[in-house]
Amino acid sequence: MMEVLKKFVRQPLVINQLQFSLEQSQLIDQALYLNNLTTERSIDRDNGTLDYCRLHDITVQAWSPLQYGFFKGCFVDSPEFPELNSVLGEIGEKYGVSKTAVAIAWILRHPAKMQAIAGTMNPSHLRDICDASKAELTHNEWYRLYLASGKHLP
Ligand SMILES: NC(=O)c1ccc[n+]([C@@H]2O[C@H](COP(=O)([O-])OP(=O)(O)OC[C@H]3O[C@@H](n4cnc5c(N)ncnc54)[C@H](OP(=O)(O)O)[C@@H]3O)[C@@H](O)[C@H]2O)c1
Repeated sequence: MMEVLKKFVRQPLVINQLQFSLEQSQLIDQALYLNNLTTERSIDRDNGTLDYCRLHDITVQAWSPLQYGFFKGCFVDSPEFPELNSVLGEIGEKYGVSKTAVAIAWILRHPAKMQAIAGTMNPSHLRDICDASKAELTHNEWYRLYLASGKHLP
C-alpha cells in the first residue's frame, strides 16, 4: 500500500501513524510470536508495516499510546489492569516519574525510535507524558512491562 501511495504522490512519506501501546501492541506481537500456532498473536495484522517503515526511514507515530481497546479508556490507574499498573508504578519509582511516563517510555524505547501522539488536553497529564524522556528503560524492564500487559514470550 505504501509503495502504491508513493507512486501517486509527490511528497516523500516520512511518517506513518499506527495504533501502538502496551495494551495494543499488535504492531510488534507478530514478530515475537512468529510461526506459533498456539496463539492468534502470531497472525500478521500489519503486513510487515513496521519493518517497511524501518527500512525506509519512515517514523512511526503511535496513536492512542495510553488507551486500551480501540478507544475504551486509559489503562493507567485502571483497576482492569492491576499487574501492569503495579509494574508501571515500580519502574516509575526507580526513575522518579509517573506510571504514565513509563508507559510512554516503553514506546520510545523501541529501536524503531517511534514518537507518541498524546491526546490529553490536561497540562498536568501532558507534563507526566513528557517525563518519559527521563526514563530510558532497560531491556529487562521493557520485557517485564510487555509480560505484565498480559502477553507471554516464547
Ligand atoms: N492517525 C490515526 O489513525 C489516529 C487515530 C486515533 C488517534 N490519532 C491521534 O492520536 C491522538 C491521541 O489519541 P488518544 O487521545 O486516543 O490517545 P491517548 O493519549 O492514549 O489517550 C488519551 C486518554 O488518556 C488519558 N490520559 C492521558 N494522560 C493521562 C494521565 N497522565 N493520567 C491519566 N489519564 C491520562 C486522557 O485523559 P485526559 O484527557 O483527562 O488527560 C485521555 O482519556 C489523537 O488526538 C489523534 O490526533 C490518530
